[in-house]
Amino acid sequence: MSAPRVGGELPGPRSRELLERARRTLYAGTGGGLAPFVLARKDGYTLEDVDGNVYLDLISASASVPLGACREDILEPVVEALRRYGNEDSHTLASEPMIELAERLVDIAPEGLTRVDLALNGTEAVETAIKMMRRATGRPVVIGFFSQYHGESTTTATLGAEQSDISRGMRTFAPGVVHAPYPHPYRSPFGPPRPGGSGDATVDYLRDHLVFHAVHPGDVAGVIVEPIVGSGGVLVPPDSFWPALSELCREHGWLLCADEVKTGFGRTGRMFAVEHWDVRPDLMCLGKGMGGGVMPIGAVLGTERAMGFDDVPTGSTWAWLPAACVAALRTIELLSSGGVLENVRELERVALEELGRLAERHECIGDVRARGCYQAIEFVRDRETKERDPELLERVAEEALRRGVLADPSTTSYNIQPSLVMPPDELRRALRIVAEAVDAAAGEPVRGRVATAG
Ligand SMILES: Cc1ncc(COP(=O)(O)O)c(C=O)c1O
Repeated sequence: MSAPRVGGELPGPRSRELLERARRTLYAGTGGGLAPFVLARKDGYTLEDVDGNVYLDLISASASVPLGACREDILEPVVEALRRYGNEDSHTLASEPMIELAERLVDIAPEGLTRVDLALNGTEAVETAIKMMRRATGRPVVIGFFSQYHGESTTTATLGAEQSDISRGMRTFAPGVVHAPYPHPYRSPFGPPRPGGSGDATVDYLRDHLVFHAVHPGDVAGVIVEPIVGSGGVLVPPDSFWPALSELCREHGWLLCADEVKTGFGRTGRMFAVEHWDVRPDLMCLGKGMGGGVMPIGAVLGTERAMGFDDVPTGSTWAWLPAACVAALRTIELLSSGGVLENVRELERVALEELGRLAERHECIGDVRARGCYQAIEFVRDRETKERDPELLERVAEEALRRGVLADPSTTSYNIQPSLVMPPDELRRALRIVAEAVDAAAGEPVRGRVATAG
């Protein structure tokens, strides 16, 4: 498909008709949030709608399609496995792909993660990890961080704190979670770390304030951290965060759980994002890209301390259907066979160059960030006050879509998540279209100081 190619107004006539039908029957919270076109087919990193418009895809199905859409070399073995096994509840009957996958995950995971449990998706993986943390420590409280997203189920929505509307009306019904600000390089409420402290401002806050005033450290099971925040806007913590946090966990017997549902399987340029800092988590949650963009699958990995028991009921019927295990095995093989992670790092270089240049031209851009195929632009009304500009964010997304580029404006920033195998020149082309969209939405570009790029 030659992309992008968009003619006329969006939605086109056929999409409009279908979206009207969808909105008549779907729950309005879902129907109202749909993109203004209806998908007809996907190919690599392009999407075609039912009116024949073709878009460059910079969302990758919420980062669940890592290696391009509908890849024959993943689909083929998956279809064969579906023919052979259909579905089987892997909690009842084992199959070879299931056993092989558990072994392969332990091979590629950070040292110490020797146990694997099945999950249907990322949400279920996080639910299971919370149960494991409480069971392993006998303690009730889990510490989460602002800006993080962990899912929409009652518990995961309460653990997440990306935006308060996600847990509205629910948070008070799911106790056992407390929050601290994420080590947010652009919006940290803290100054520099205090002299004689942990060496990291966020961990100083946990030590000096949270566990001093609000929650006794002996009630805390552990912390759940997105090693790089994804949906909340690609936040890369400072290097000082990890040793200080690990030390705090060690001191109080807390478990450190890395939510790698979105960062895992290559998205940030390493197989897992914790590898950027050589962090050794006690638990790790996986999902999204694990299924190679063709099957739903997730997992929880843990140390013997975190998961070395058998009395926590977990999972659900469709978790690890054999064909999904085949998809995950094939995905790991493709990611491990060379070239992909190198391409991801090249895409990061392209993004920093293009987005950095864009930020120089527009005062309305407060910050641009990129780590691998995790990239974001944050729009502000004023660079000094850093007041967010959600209306501009929406306008940029509309202008980009009209020019045939689909990225994700649904959170606090314009999130760009290309396929890990997108050719660098294609990403450059797509980001130049985004730049045109910013020019159109924000008005005349002005020269300002260079925004930071993390
Ligand atoms: C970090 C993180 N954890 C968990 C989830 C939940 O995953 P899923 O929606 O695939 O169940 C998400 C989804 O965006 C996520 O980004």
